[in-house]
Amino acid sequence: MRVLFVCLGNICRSPTAETVFRSKAGKAGLKVEADSAGTGNWHIGKPPHSDMQAAAKGHGYDMSDLAARQVSQSDFADFDLIIAMDAQNLADLQSLRPDGTDATLALMSDYGPSTGPRDVPDPYFTGDFVGTLGLIEVCSDGLVEHLQESANTAN
Ligand code: 4NP
Repeated sequence: MRVLFVCLGNICRSPTAETVFRSKAGKAGLKVEADSAGTGNWHIGKPPHSDMQAAAKGHGYDMSDLAARQVSQSDFADFDLIIAMDAQNLADLQSLRPDGTDATLALMSDYGPSTGPRDVPDPYFTGDFVGTLGLIEVCSDGLVEHLQESANTAN
C-alpha cells in the first residue's frame, strides 16, 4: 500500500500528514509507504515550514529531512491512495489525473470525526500550526484504523 498526501505548497500540511501517518502506521504494524507532494511549485526542494517543524517536534515528530516536490502524473500510477488536505487540492488532483489510472482519491477529513472540518485548515494562512497538527493526528489515527480494517477484510 502506497499513500501520497497532497496539499498546496508541500511545506505545511502534507509533509506533516506524511510524517504523522508513517509514525502511527509503523506503531500499528501496518506495511505502508508514505510520501507527500504539493499541487503548487513555489517551494520545490525546500524543507517544511519552520513553524510546522517546531509544532511537530513538540509532539515528537522530526520532519527536517523532507524536501517539497510537486505532484506529477506518474503519482497516479505509483500510489494506491492519494489523500488531499482540502477540497481545492482534491479538485486539482481530479483534473491532473491521467485517464486509465486507478489510484483512489480521498480527502484527509474522510478519516476524521464527522463533526470536524471538511478542509484541513492551512496554517500558512491561519498561523495555527499546532491546531492543524492536532487535526492531522486525529485523521491519521482514523486512516490507520481504516487500513487495518481493509487489511482484515482482505485476509
Ligand atoms: P501547505 O501550505 O499547502 O499546507 O503546504 C502552504 C504553503 C505555502 C503556500 C500556500 C500554502 N504558498 O502560497 O506559498
